Amino acid sequence: MLDMKSFIRNMPKVELHLHLEGTIEPKMLLQLAERNNVEFPYSNEKDVIAAQNYGEPALENFLEYHFNCQNIIRTETDLYDITLAFLARCKEENIRHVELMFDPQSHMDRGLSFDEIIRGIQRGRLEGRKRFGVSVCLIMCAMRDYSEKRALELLELAKPYKSLITGIGLDSVEHENPPKKHLKFFLKAQQQGYRLTAHCDCDQQESTENIAQCMNLLQVDRIDHGVNILDKNELVSNALNKKICFTMCPTWRPSDNEPRRLDRLRKMFDLDLLVTINTDDPAQFASGYLCNTLIEVQKNTPYTALEMVRFMRNAINGSWLEDQEKAGLLNELNNYALTRIVINE
Ligand code: HPA
Ligand code: ZN
Repeated sequence: MLDMKSFIRNMPKVELHLHLEGTIEPKMLLQLAERNNVEFPYSNEKDVIAAQNYGEPALENFLEYHFNCQNIIRTETDLYDITLAFLARCKEENIRHVELMFDPQSHMDRGLSFDEIIRGIQRGRLEGRKRFGVSVCLIMCAMRDYSEKRALELLELAKPYKSLITGIGLDSVEHENPPKKHLKFFLKAQQQGYRLTAHCDCDQQESTENIAQCMNLLQVDRIDHGVNILDKNELVSNALNKKICFTMCPTWRPSDNEPRRLDRLRKMFDLDLLVTINTDDPAQFASGYLCNTLIEVQKNTPYTALEMVRFMRNAINGSWLEDQEKAGLLNELNNYALTRIVINE
Protein backbone atom coordinates (compact mmCIF):
# COMPACT_ATOMS: atom_id res chain seq x y z
CA MET A 1 0.00 0.00 0.00
CA LEU A 2 1.19 3.46 -0.86
CA ASP A 3 2.18 5.52 2.18
CA MET A 4 0.61 8.82 1.19
CA LYS A 5 2.59 10.94 3.67
CA SER A 6 5.96 9.77 2.43
CA PHE A 7 4.71 9.92 -1.16
CA ILE A 8 3.93 13.63 -0.65
CA ARG A 9 7.12 14.34 1.32
CA ASN A 10 9.38 12.81 -1.34
CA MET A 11 7.54 14.23 -4.37
CA PRO A 12 9.59 16.95 -6.14
CA LYS A 13 7.68 20.16 -5.43
CA VAL A 14 7.14 23.70 -6.74
CA GLU A 15 5.41 26.51 -4.85
CA LEU A 16 4.06 29.68 -6.46
CA HIS A 17 2.53 31.77 -3.69
CA LEU A 18 4.32 32.74 -0.55
CA HIS A 19 5.68 35.94 0.94
CA LEU A 20 9.26 36.14 2.16
CA GLU A 21 8.05 38.27 5.08
CA GLY A 22 5.64 35.48 6.10
CA THR A 23 8.41 32.87 6.42
CA ILE A 24 10.10 34.23 9.56
CA GLU A 25 9.74 31.67 12.34
CA PRO A 26 8.73 32.99 15.81
CA LYS A 27 12.21 32.24 17.19
CA MET A 28 13.87 34.31 14.48
CA LEU A 29 11.36 37.16 14.92
CA LEU A 30 12.35 37.40 18.57
CA GLN A 31 16.07 37.20 17.74
CA LEU A 32 15.84 39.93 15.10
CA ALA A 33 13.77 42.17 17.38
CA GLU A 34 16.55 41.90 19.94
CA ARG A 35 19.39 42.29 17.43
CA ASN A 36 17.80 45.44 16.01
CA ASN A 37 16.60 46.76 19.34
CA VAL A 38 13.02 47.03 18.08
CA GLU A 39 10.02 46.86 20.35
CA PHE A 40 8.03 43.72 19.52
CA PRO A 41 4.47 43.13 20.81
CA TYR A 42 5.03 39.44 21.68
CA SER A 43 7.45 38.39 24.40
CA ASN A 44 7.88 34.67 23.61
CA GLU A 45 7.22 32.08 20.87
CA LYS A 46 3.96 30.96 22.46
CA ASP A 47 2.56 34.51 22.34
CA VAL A 48 3.61 34.88 18.70
CA ILE A 49 1.66 31.73 17.80
CA ALA A 50 -1.33 32.57 20.01
CA ALA A 51 -1.80 35.78 18.00
CA GLN A 52 -2.44 33.75 14.81
CA ASN A 53 -6.14 33.14 15.49
CA TYR A 54 -7.17 35.99 13.22
CA GLY A 55 -10.86 36.92 13.72
CA GLU A 56 -13.07 38.69 11.18
CA PRO A 57 -12.33 40.64 9.06
CA ALA A 58 -9.68 37.94 8.65
CA LEU A 59 -7.60 39.62 5.92
CA GLU A 60 -7.28 42.92 7.78
CA ASN A 61 -6.53 41.19 11.10
CA PHE A 62 -4.01 38.90 9.46
CA LEU A 63 -2.31 41.88 7.80
CA GLU A 64 -2.04 43.73 11.12
CA TYR A 65 -0.14 40.74 12.56
CA HIS A 66 1.88 40.32 9.35
CA PHE A 67 3.07 43.94 9.46
CA ASN A 68 3.76 43.79 13.23
CA CYS A 69 6.08 40.89 12.47
CA GLN A 70 7.75 42.59 9.50
CA ASN A 71 8.57 45.55 11.69
CA ILE A 72 11.67 43.74 13.01
CA ILE A 73 13.33 43.75 9.55
CA ARG A 74 15.83 46.61 9.56
CA THR A 75 18.93 45.68 7.55
CA GLU A 76 20.21 44.04 4.39
CA THR A 77 21.67 41.25 6.56
CA ASP A 78 18.21 40.56 8.06
CA LEU A 79 16.84 39.95 4.56
CA TYR A 80 19.81 37.73 3.72
CA ASP A 81 19.31 35.66 6.89
CA ILE A 82 15.54 35.36 6.34
CA THR A 83 15.95 34.27 2.70
CA LEU A 84 18.62 31.72 3.52
CA ALA A 85 16.67 30.24 6.45
CA PHE A 86 13.65 29.86 4.20
CA LEU A 87 15.61 28.14 1.43
CA ALA A 88 17.09 25.71 3.97
CA ARG A 89 13.50 24.82 4.88
CA CYS A 90 12.62 24.37 1.18
CA LYS A 91 15.30 21.71 0.96
CA GLU A 92 13.67 19.80 3.86
CA GLU A 93 10.32 20.03 2.08
CA ASN A 94 11.86 18.85 -1.22
CA ILE A 95 10.75 22.10 -2.88
CA ARG A 96 12.87 22.41 -6.02
CA HIS A 97 11.60 25.76 -7.23
CA VAL A 98 9.77 28.58 -5.48
CA GLU A 99 8.28 31.86 -6.70
CA LEU A 100 8.77 34.20 -3.79
CA MET A 101 6.98 37.51 -3.20
CA PHE A 102 8.56 40.41 -1.37
CA ASP A 103 7.17 43.79 -0.28
CA PRO A 104 9.83 46.51 -0.88
CA GLN A 105 7.46 49.37 0.00
CA SER A 106 7.04 48.09 3.54
CA HIS A 107 10.83 47.77 4.02
CA MET A 108 11.46 51.22 2.53
CA ASP A 109 8.98 52.65 5.07
CA ARG A 110 11.39 51.35 7.74
CA GLY A 111 14.38 53.11 6.18
CA LEU A 112 15.90 50.40 3.99
CA SER A 113 16.89 51.47 0.49
CA PHE A 114 15.70 49.50 -2.53
CA ASP A 115 19.31 48.53 -3.22
CA GLU A 116 19.77 47.09 0.28
CA ILE A 117 16.53 45.12 -0.01
CA ILE A 118 17.38 43.53 -3.33
CA ARG A 119 21.02 42.92 -2.37
CA GLY A 120 20.05 41.11 0.86
CA ILE A 121 17.50 38.89 -0.88
CA GLN A 122 19.75 38.21 -3.89
CA ARG A 123 22.71 37.20 -1.70
CA GLY A 124 20.45 34.81 0.24
CA ARG A 125 19.07 33.43 -2.99
CA LEU A 126 22.54 32.74 -4.46
CA GLU A 127 23.78 31.12 -1.27
CA GLY A 128 20.56 29.09 -1.01
CA ARG A 129 20.93 27.87 -4.58
CA LYS A 130 24.50 26.81 -3.88
CA ARG A 131 23.84 25.13 -0.52
CA PHE A 132 20.36 23.70 -0.99
CA GLY A 133 19.83 23.49 -4.76
CA VAL A 134 16.55 25.46 -4.67
CA SER A 135 15.78 27.85 -7.54
CA VAL A 136 13.86 31.08 -6.92
CA CYS A 137 11.91 33.48 -9.14
CA LEU A 138 11.29 36.78 -7.36
CA ILE A 139 7.93 38.57 -7.46
CA MET A 140 8.05 42.24 -6.47
CA CYS A 141 4.73 43.22 -4.91
CA ALA A 142 3.11 46.63 -4.74
CA MET A 143 0.82 47.26 -1.80
CA ARG A 144 -2.65 47.99 -3.15
CA ASP A 145 -3.55 50.40 -0.33
CA TYR A 146 -0.59 52.60 -1.35
CA SER A 147 -0.86 55.03 -4.29
CA GLU A 148 -0.19 53.99 -7.87
CA LYS A 149 2.41 56.77 -8.00
CA ARG A 150 4.45 54.91 -5.39
CA ALA A 151 4.13 51.67 -7.34
CA LEU A 152 5.39 53.40 -10.50
CA GLU A 153 8.38 54.71 -8.53
CA LEU A 154 9.09 51.12 -7.55
CA LEU A 155 9.36 50.14 -11.21
CA GLU A 156 11.96 52.89 -11.72
CA LEU A 157 13.96 51.75 -8.68
CA ALA A 158 13.88 48.18 -9.93
CA LYS A 159 15.22 49.02 -13.41
CA PRO A 160 18.89 48.27 -12.66
CA TYR A 161 17.83 44.91 -11.17
CA LYS A 162 15.37 43.88 -13.85
CA SER A 163 17.20 40.64 -14.59
CA LEU A 164 16.80 39.52 -10.96
CA ILE A 165 13.03 40.01 -10.74
CA THR A 166 10.69 37.80 -12.77
CA GLY A 167 7.26 39.11 -11.91
CA ILE A 168 5.10 41.81 -10.40
CA GLY A 169 2.39 41.20 -7.79
CA LEU A 170 -0.25 43.13 -5.85
CA ASP A 171 -1.01 42.43 -2.19
CA SER A 172 -2.21 43.94 1.13
CA VAL A 173 -5.63 45.50 1.88
CA GLU A 174 -8.11 44.71 -0.90
CA HIS A 175 -11.36 46.41 0.21
CA GLU A 176 -11.81 49.70 -1.70
CA ASN A 177 -8.49 49.17 -3.50
CA PRO A 178 -9.59 47.63 -6.83
CA PRO A 179 -6.95 46.23 -9.19
CA LYS A 180 -7.67 48.98 -11.73
CA LYS A 181 -6.19 51.50 -9.28
CA HIS A 182 -2.83 50.02 -10.37
CA LEU A 183 -3.64 49.61 -14.08
CA LYS A 184 -0.82 51.85 -15.40
CA PHE A 185 1.67 50.10 -13.12
CA PHE A 186 0.68 46.70 -14.48
CA LEU A 187 0.66 47.79 -18.14
CA LYS A 188 4.06 49.39 -17.76
CA ALA A 189 5.47 46.35 -15.99
CA GLN A 190 4.16 44.12 -18.76
CA GLN A 191 5.82 46.34 -21.40
CA GLN A 192 9.08 46.04 -19.48
CA GLY A 193 8.88 42.25 -19.70
CA TYR A 194 7.70 41.30 -16.22
CA ARG A 195 5.25 38.46 -15.68
CA LEU A 196 2.09 39.48 -13.80
CA THR A 197 0.10 38.20 -10.87
CA ALA A 198 -2.28 39.84 -8.38
CA HIS A 199 -4.00 38.82 -5.16
CA CYS A 200 -7.77 38.43 -5.25
CA ASP A 201 -8.28 37.46 -1.62
CA CYS A 202 -11.14 35.18 -0.56
CA ASP A 203 -14.66 36.51 0.00
CA GLN A 204 -13.91 40.20 -0.26
CA GLN A 205 -16.90 42.47 -0.94
CA GLU A 206 -15.68 43.13 -4.48
CA SER A 207 -14.15 39.68 -5.20
CA THR A 208 -15.81 38.82 -8.53
CA GLU A 209 -15.41 42.33 -9.93
CA ASN A 210 -11.74 42.30 -8.89
CA ILE A 211 -11.13 38.92 -10.54
CA ALA A 212 -12.70 40.23 -13.77
CA GLN A 213 -10.51 43.35 -13.65
CA CYS A 214 -7.36 41.29 -13.12
CA MET A 215 -8.08 39.05 -16.11
CA ASN A 216 -9.49 41.65 -18.52
CA LEU A 217 -7.70 44.91 -17.65
CA LEU A 218 -4.46 44.03 -15.89
CA GLN A 219 -3.95 40.99 -18.15
CA VAL A 220 -2.42 38.89 -15.40
CA ASP A 221 -0.95 35.41 -15.96
CA ARG A 222 -1.96 34.30 -12.49
CA ILE A 223 -4.40 35.13 -9.69
CA ASP A 224 -3.33 34.62 -6.08
CA HIS A 225 -6.15 32.91 -4.10
CA GLY A 226 -9.10 33.66 -6.47
CA VAL A 227 -11.58 31.08 -5.12
CA ASN A 228 -14.51 33.44 -5.83
CA ILE A 229 -14.04 32.65 -9.53
CA LEU A 230 -16.65 29.97 -8.76
CA ASP A 231 -19.31 32.62 -8.07
CA LYS A 232 -19.71 33.38 -11.80
CA ASN A 233 -19.74 30.82 -14.65
CA GLU A 234 -18.65 33.42 -17.14
CA LEU A 235 -15.47 34.10 -15.13
CA VAL A 236 -14.68 30.38 -15.09
CA SER A 237 -14.91 30.12 -18.91
CA ASN A 238 -12.78 33.24 -19.26
CA ALA A 239 -10.09 31.80 -16.94
CA LEU A 240 -10.11 28.47 -18.79
CA ASN A 241 -9.72 30.25 -22.16
CA LYS A 242 -6.90 32.41 -20.87
CA LYS A 243 -5.24 29.49 -19.01
CA ILE A 244 -5.03 31.61 -15.86
CA CYS A 245 -3.18 29.89 -13.03
CA PHE A 246 -4.73 30.11 -9.52
CA THR A 247 -2.41 30.01 -6.53
CA MET A 248 -4.89 28.87 -3.91
CA CYS A 249 -3.89 28.77 -0.21
CA PRO A 250 -5.92 26.45 2.05
CA THR A 251 -4.12 27.88 5.12
CA TRP A 252 -5.60 27.40 8.58
CA ARG A 253 -5.24 29.10 11.95
CA PRO A 254 -4.37 27.27 15.21
CA SER A 255 -8.08 27.19 16.17
CA ASP A 256 -9.25 25.78 12.79
CA ASN A 257 -7.49 22.40 13.07
CA GLU A 258 -7.96 21.60 9.38
CA PRO A 259 -7.54 23.21 5.95
CA ARG A 260 -10.03 25.89 4.94
CA ARG A 261 -11.91 26.19 1.62
CA LEU A 262 -11.43 22.55 0.60
CA ASP A 263 -14.82 22.34 -1.18
CA ARG A 264 -13.90 25.24 -3.39
CA LEU A 265 -10.45 23.84 -4.09
CA ARG A 266 -12.04 20.54 -5.19
CA LYS A 267 -14.53 22.38 -7.46
CA MET A 268 -11.77 24.43 -9.10
CA PHE A 269 -9.72 21.27 -9.61
CA ASP A 270 -12.67 19.35 -11.10
CA LEU A 271 -13.42 22.25 -13.49
CA ASP A 272 -9.88 21.79 -14.83
CA LEU A 273 -8.76 25.25 -13.79
CA LEU A 274 -4.97 25.46 -13.47
CA VAL A 275 -5.19 25.50 -9.67
CA THR A 276 -2.23 25.00 -7.33
CA ILE A 277 -1.80 24.54 -3.54
CA ASN A 278 0.36 27.04 -1.64
CA THR A 279 1.20 28.20 1.88
CA ASP A 280 1.05 32.04 1.58
CA ASP A 281 2.76 32.86 4.90
CA PRO A 282 3.96 29.52 6.30
CA ALA A 283 5.34 30.89 9.60
CA GLN A 284 2.09 32.77 10.29
CA PHE A 285 -0.50 30.01 9.95
CA ALA A 286 -0.90 26.67 11.74
CA SER A 287 -0.81 25.03 8.29
CA GLY A 288 2.92 25.78 8.05
CA TYR A 289 4.96 24.65 5.06
CA LEU A 290 4.06 22.81 1.89
CA CYS A 291 4.41 19.14 2.95
CA ASN A 292 2.11 19.56 5.94
CA THR A 293 -0.38 21.58 3.90
CA LEU A 294 -0.48 19.00 1.08
CA ILE A 295 -0.75 16.08 3.51
CA GLU A 296 -3.73 17.60 5.34
CA VAL A 297 -5.46 18.70 2.13
CA GLN A 298 -5.05 15.21 0.65
CA LYS A 299 -6.37 13.50 3.78
CA ASN A 300 -9.33 15.80 4.43
CA THR A 301 -10.74 15.94 0.88
CA PRO A 302 -9.49 13.21 -0.04
CA TYR A 303 -7.38 13.20 -3.23
CA THR A 304 -5.68 10.21 -4.87
CA ALA A 305 -1.91 10.10 -5.33
CA LEU A 306 -2.36 10.78 -9.03
CA GLU A 307 -4.47 13.82 -8.26
CA MET A 308 -1.73 15.14 -5.96
CA VAL A 309 0.68 14.71 -8.86
CA ARG A 310 -1.71 16.69 -11.06
CA PHE A 311 -1.65 19.56 -8.55
CA MET A 312 2.13 19.57 -8.77
CA ARG A 313 2.04 19.40 -12.57
CA ASN A 314 -0.24 22.47 -12.48
CA ALA A 315 2.34 24.30 -10.34
CA ILE A 316 5.16 23.49 -12.78
CA ASN A 317 3.04 24.53 -15.77
CA GLY A 318 1.85 27.70 -14.03
CA SER A 319 5.38 28.67 -12.97
CA TRP A 320 7.53 31.26 -14.72
CA LEU A 321 10.43 28.89 -15.35
CA GLU A 322 11.85 28.61 -18.87
CA ASP A 323 10.24 25.89 -21.00
CA GLN A 324 13.31 23.68 -20.77
CA GLU A 325 13.38 23.87 -16.97
CA LYS A 326 9.67 23.11 -16.83
CA ALA A 327 10.17 20.08 -19.06
CA GLY A 328 12.98 18.81 -16.81
CA LEU A 329 10.83 19.08 -13.67
CA LEU A 330 7.77 17.56 -15.37
CA ASN A 331 9.89 14.65 -16.46
CA GLU A 332 11.24 14.13 -12.97
CA LEU A 333 7.74 14.32 -11.48
CA ASN A 334 6.34 11.83 -14.01
CA ASN A 335 9.14 9.36 -13.32
CA TYR A 336 8.59 9.75 -9.60
CA ALA A 337 4.85 9.10 -9.97
CA LEU A 338 5.36 6.15 -12.30
CA THR A 339 7.79 4.32 -10.05
CA ARG A 340 5.97 5.04 -6.76
CA ILE A 341 2.34 4.63 -7.82
CA VAL A 342 2.67 1.75 -10.26
CA ILE A 343 4.88 -0.27 -7.93
CA ASN A 344 2.68 0.30 -4.89
CA GLU A 345 -0.88 -0.01 -6.25
N1 HPA B 1 -3.22 38.75 0.95
C1 HPA B 1 -2.87 40.04 0.89
N2 HPA B 1 -1.71 40.47 1.33
C2 HPA B 1 -0.83 39.61 1.84
C3 HPA B 1 -1.13 38.27 1.93
C4 HPA B 1 -2.39 37.82 1.45
O1 HPA B 1 -2.71 36.62 1.46
N3 HPA B 1 -0.06 37.66 2.51
C5 HPA B 1 0.85 38.61 2.74
N4 HPA B 1 0.40 39.80 2.34
ZN1 ZN C 1 -0.45 36.08 -0.43
